[in-house]
Amino acid sequence: MNQSLLKQTQIKSYNFPYSAHQYQLEIHKALDEFRFVTAVAHRRFGKTECAIASLFTAAIHETKPDGMYGYIAPFLKQAKQIAWRKLKRYVSETFGRDWKAVGIQKNEAELWVQLPNGARIQLFGADNADAIRGLYFDGIVIDEIADMRPDVWNAIIRPALADRQGWALLIGTPKGMNELYKFYQRGLNDPHWKSLLFSATTTNLPWLPPSEIKALEEDMTESMFAQEMLCDFQASSDDVLFKLVDLDKAVKRQMKLSDLTGAARVIGLDVAGPGKDKTCLTKKQGLMVWPQMMFKNMKTPEICDVLAAQMIQWKADAAIVDNGYGFAVVEQMQRRGFSNVYGVDFGGTPSQPQYANKKTEMVYRTKKWLDSGGKLPNDPDLMQEASAHTVRLNEKGKLEVCKKDAVKDVIRRSPDKFDSLIIANAFDIVPLIVHPFQNATEPANVMQSQMFGGAGHVQDYDPYDQ
Ligand SMILES: Nc1ncnc2c1ncn2[C@@H]1O[C@H](COP(=O)(O)OP(=O)(O)OP(=O)(O)O)[C@@H](O)[C@H]1O
Ligand SMILES: [Mg+2]
Repeated sequence: MNQSLLKQTQIKSYNFPYSAHQYQLEIHKALDEFRFVTAVAHRRFGKTECAIASLFTAAIHETKPDGMYGYIAPFLKQAKQIAWRKLKRYVSETFGRDWKAVGIQKNEAELWVQLPNGARIQLFGADNADAIRGLYFDGIVIDEIADMRPDVWNAIIRPALADRQGWALLIGTPKGMNELYKFYQRGLNDPHWKSLLFSATTTNLPWLPPSEIKALEEDMTESMFAQEMLCDFQASSDDVLFKLVDLDKAVKRQMKLSDLTGAARVIGLDVAGPGKDKTCLTKKQGLMVWPQMMFKNMKTPEICDVLAAQMIQWKADAAIVDNGYGFAVVEQMQRRGFSNVYGVDFGGTPSQPQYANKKTEMVYRTKKWLDSGGKLPNDPDLMQEASAHTVRLNEKGKLEVCKKDAVKDVIRRSPDKFDSLIIANAFDIVPLIVHPFQNATEPANVMQSQMFGGAGHVQDYDPYDQ
């Protein structure tokens, strides 16, 4: 790609919608001088935008017949979701409504566009990298190479660049000392390769102001921030939010009865779905969570009976129920006159914009509750379930907790207890009642024995029941 052509594109010939920011410009300039460039940049830097713009600019000015340019993301689905829209936008905004008349062709199924000069830009996924075999490229961008099979470059891409002396831009955010790191190192020593690194401490992008970076730092784990925003290859890729050592502290924490005074009593209820899950009920008052109750094979009316009894006996200020399988429970409780039973949608809109969904916000609220001195019951299952949850920054730069199936793969069951705990932390609840230290249904000795992990309190459920 030629930088002067990029400028020309922006100014004259076409109404090209991309104007590189100063750090993207450094990448384009490096591609003018070097055939192979590795650009390591923090999340939301504009890597994908820069990648598509590089390809589009090069393709539009291609003079060789049948120019061929490729964009490779780790997964074809991802390439389609992220880059296809950007590419089509470049075509429509550059050529306007007349794109067909000037001879542009588009293939939605194969994800390519062919420009008036015959040059084609096609999107690929490394999950189907073999589709690239047998093709040639004048230029290629590999987006997030760290997430690809290590042999993709040597076995598939590099040979495809040979006959036309094609260039390559490798672009990504660190993920431990893996493939991207190897290419980055190569650029520091090999004269044909160039390496660039952009950390969030040095860039200053309009869509990522210092306040946003600070907010991310507060919400991300330290190692996650070091890796994804500071581009530290050596930061551990450990993105577990609940570390076992912290959970252990939360279990061993000593509480005073007065710690609970004035705090709302909230019940969290995770209702079993079809199959093996169990319904799990969590009682939380301020910083205290009691051993959770598990119920098997219960239908909606029975679950409502249990919930109603618990709410009355314990004088709960509110109950929060997951709307997924618990939708009917919420409805029936409200019909029974419990206006303080609320439903929560795991996939719903969070109140804070940095979270991808309500579930992630609930997970972070639980983490903040724990960090502020929350006490958990001594339950190894709950600890295992909590520590199996990981978080990441998703494609839109939002914090997102892993999918339930990923947790199930690790712990081999549904994390019902953890779900119930985060449900109890879903909203801020204002107490309706000024709760005394204890009430008639919970004599002080019972509370004490539960809080300090003592035995001797017999309940009508087994909190460790499988
Ligand atoms: N030069 C630019 N001018 C204006 N907006 C830009 C520019 N480059 C990128 N953006 C915008 O910034 C946002 C992030 O861009 P992009 O998706 O390319 O970043 P990324 O580094 O690939 O992010 P991720 O780390 O999530 O993959 C997008 O909304 C994009 O449209
Ligand atoms: Mg990207």
